[in-house]
Amino acid sequence: MRVLEAKFVQGFMRMADDGWNQGWHERNGGNLTYRIKKEEAESIREELSEDGEWKEIGTAVPALAGEYFLVTGSGKYFRNVMSDPEDSIAVIELDDKGENYRICWGLVNGGRPTSELPSHLMNHEVKMQATGGKHRVIYHAHTTNVIALTFVLPLKDEVFTRELWEMATECPVVFPDGIGVVGWMVPGGREIAVATSELMKKYDVAVWAHHGMFCSGEDFDLTFGLMHTVEKSAEILVKMLSMRPDKLQTITAENFRDLAVDFKVELPERFLFEK
Ligand code: 13P
Ligand code: ZN
Repeated sequence: MRVLEAKFVQGFMRMADDGWNQGWHERNGGNLTYRIKKEEAESIREELSEDGEWKEIGTAVPALAGEYFLVTGSGKYFRNVMSDPEDSIAVIELDDKGENYRICWGLVNGGRPTSELPSHLMNHEVKMQATGGKHRVIYHAHTTNVIALTFVLPLKDEVFTRELWEMATECPVVFPDGIGVVGWMVPGGREIAVATSELMKKYDVAVWAHHGMFCSGEDFDLTFGLMHTVEKSAEILVKMLSMRPDKLQTITAENFRDLAVDFKVELPERFLFEK
């Protein structure tokens, strides 16, 4: 099968386009990676090259040795993924140590995978292990309202989780484990990758202060839906804070406990502190 005909490639491209349409991907902002299933890699084998030069990932992900990923290119625009996928995205393969990658398809006009490849792959490794292999998608977006909140809320997991849960009743059902927050760091390297993957052991969402968000999920719908839900909740909070700095009424800790029972989710008590 041709790479561009594969269902997972079409799902990846649609998700990139959805993110572009949300306004989360100015210029080359954001990046997306998908851990390809063995049978999916087999189905496009005829178009995968084995001549690519091995290059350093910049970190080690031994549990992902030999895996194939579909990735966005560094400096490439989400806006162009639909119209020019072969220029914008790539299939890469990891070596048997999980320390190097090579390009097997795509990026036909040159270039390399996203500069956030260390963060993506370290997150993939953590989430693959934490979910018994279920999670396959890691998504980084420059979500406007979440970024705005990182200037006015304390950069604490408990505060972001509780405030965003309060803004929409379904939020604790969509991200019951909560949200992690990384203070400002230089992007693109191993240090921020280690900090983010540490949070991903507990959460499916990590906020990068003054930069954006990382989400992890099983498939494109769930991962995009998670990003969309958190960002929508952040938009409501920004609107609320713009109208008046305090709340006249809200969803209380006791309300959340009732919701948890009916919706059969476990909400950690550390997010249900009295205010
Ligand atoms: P890339 O173009 O290298 O993917 O970088 C975009 C970005 O959002 C960095 O955090
Ligand atoms: Zn970014």
